[in-house]
Amino acid sequence: MFRAFRYFRTDASRIGLSLGLMVLSIGANLLKPWPLAFIVDYLLVGNPMPSWIATQTLGCSTSELLVMLAVVAFGLHMGQGALAAAQNFTSIQVGLRGLARVRLELFERLQRLSLRFYNSHSQGDIIYRATWDTFSFQTLFQQGFSTFLNAFLSLAIMVGVMARLNLRLMLLSVVIVPPLILTMLWFGKQMKKRSAASHQAESLLTSSVQQNIAAVQLTQSYVREREERNRFEVLVNSTRQRRVSQHGWELGYWFSVAALFGMGTALIIWQGSQEVLAGNLSTGQLLIFLAYLSQWYEPLNQLAHVGATVADASAGASRVLEIIDAPESIQDPAVPQVLKNPRGTIELKNVSFDYETGHPILQGISLRIEPGESVAIIGPSGVGKTTLLQLLPRFYDPTGGQILLDGIDLRELSLRDLRSTISLVLQEPILLPGTIGENIAYARPGASVMEIEKAARAAHIHDFILKLPQGYETLVGEGLARLSVGEKQRINLARAFLKDAPILLLDEPTSALDAESERCVIASLIELMRGRTTLMVAHRLSTIRRVSKIIVLENGKLTQVGSPEALMKQTGYFSRVTDPEP
Ligand SMILES: Nc1ncnc2c1ncn2[C@@H]1O[C@H](COP(=O)(O)OP(=O)(O)OP(=O)(O)O)[C@@H](O)[C@H]1O
Ligand SMILES: [Mg+2]
Repeated sequence: MFRAFRYFRTDASRIGLSLGLMVLSIGANLLKPWPLAFIVDYLLVGNPMPSWIATQTLGCSTSELLVMLAVVAFGLHMGQGALAAAQNFTSIQVGLRGLARVRLELFERLQRLSLRFYNSHSQGDIIYRATWDTFSFQTLFQQGFSTFLNAFLSLAIMVGVMARLNLRLMLLSVVIVPPLILTMLWFGKQMKKRSAASHQAESLLTSSVQQNIAAVQLTQSYVREREERNRFEVLVNSTRQRRVSQHGWELGYWFSVAALFGMGTALIIWQGSQEVLAGNLSTGQLLIFLAYLSQWYEPLNQLAHVGATVADASAGASRVLEIIDAPESIQDPAVPQVLKNPRGTIELKNVSFDYETGHPILQGISLRIEPGESVAIIGPSGVGKTTLLQLLPRFYDPTGGQILLDGIDLRELSLRDLRSTISLVLQEPILLPGTIGENIAYARPGASVMEIEKAARAAHIHDFILKLPQGYETLVGEGLARLSVGEKQRINLARAFLKDAPILLLDEPTSALDAESERCVIASLIELMRGRTTLMVAHRLSTIRRVSKIIVLENGKLTQVGSPEALMKQTGYFSRVTDPEP
């Protein structure tokens, strides 16, 4: 929990300002009943004024004094209101600034975390943590720190002033505090339970409406409207009952609190008047007592619930910190080797890999690919072809053996150097929210329109883009212009053309294309592969035939390596899958 406050440290001066305002506002609040007490004691009852006041107000008539006191009372209310508002505003500001800091740090972290992390966390969970759980930091600051301190100070000072005025009466007022706190806690728990039940019922109701709308055609075709209505009625009634119960408990709560305060007030009136009669307390001071007592509710309530609020928020904050502290499995070396003019020799030495220990995916793979060579990886689905490609940009590190680029172990290169020598076209094309032009330019920020169009032409997507209403400015992404998988794939290829890196990794780049576009894209792929070290996962013979070497992966091992012609002559996976069906 204390780690959470780290995000607020830089706002120390704002926090100081907020604390200053808080103290002033509490002071003004406590002074509020004093003008009335003054009027009662010195003007109505007619006690002699203390001498310092008497000399100050010498020569003022009673009506003048009344106006002055009314103005003071007004000023106190106004000033306290303004101070409290300013204090709250500063505190909210600090809370939100801390929240923004946490969110930014979390996002930076999420961008860097390796795929291993993403494999073990669901997207929904991460999104929930990044959006909702981050609010816990704001809550911790505002409720756990600011509000808590405010409530605590207000109560402590009020009780202190009351003790100075009359210790016995103060002790008598405090009698209602333990039952008040117990009431707040017990009712709080009950009300929370009821409110959760109501929420649950409401959400059932919502999803029932949604499902019924989705199935309305079915309902109508089977003429089941009446049954559906009756089913819905059950839900509506249960929701109503739960809400009624929730509100009933709330009213019971307010009644109990009022009863306890009534008891406290009665006690003070009873004992206080005796103190006044005995001359231990002035009438005005009795009024101050009553006024303070009526102000106890808010801070007591806050103090009673601060534990639960802080516990709740701490849990949320630690869910966020868990991601921020997640170990980074793929790290930059402390002193990276410099990669100058990479040629693109790739060498795998006895590489093995598993996602989970005990389930090896790749075993003892050794392979050397010369600069400019193109290699196709083939093998049955699920054998680990995509996995093998992902080892090269270090999305994962091999669990055994090593991979070398131009003779340097990948783990000795900086991730930036390594990844900028590689163009990767994924099996499932990804588009970011933004325009098509921006999506292609993602490979090289600052690329000119000419370059983007050239890349798009090479990927055979330029003509398609021009036919879109806004051309390269068409927005794509979730819920926007819909593109087919093949179109997305070609935009991803255009990205690779634009990146112009010496190593090219392609994961079934033409799997979603029809024969006609595939021919076009293969033509441009051959263009793209020229002079680059290429590693390509492919299934279609038309693509495989163009490479210089084929490797066959079966059961996690390399079973065949050779040129397409050579493999054609061997019996094995390749000849099996390329042989026409008998
Ligand atoms: N993130 C992951 N965590 C755990 N296991 C995984 C993960 N990704 C893939 N696998 C498993 O690893 C194996 C190899 O998967 P991979 O995606 O590399 O296969 P592939 O050869 O590319 O298959 P396809 O031809 O269908 O694309 C599969 O059994 C798969 O279930
Ligand atoms: Mg795959």
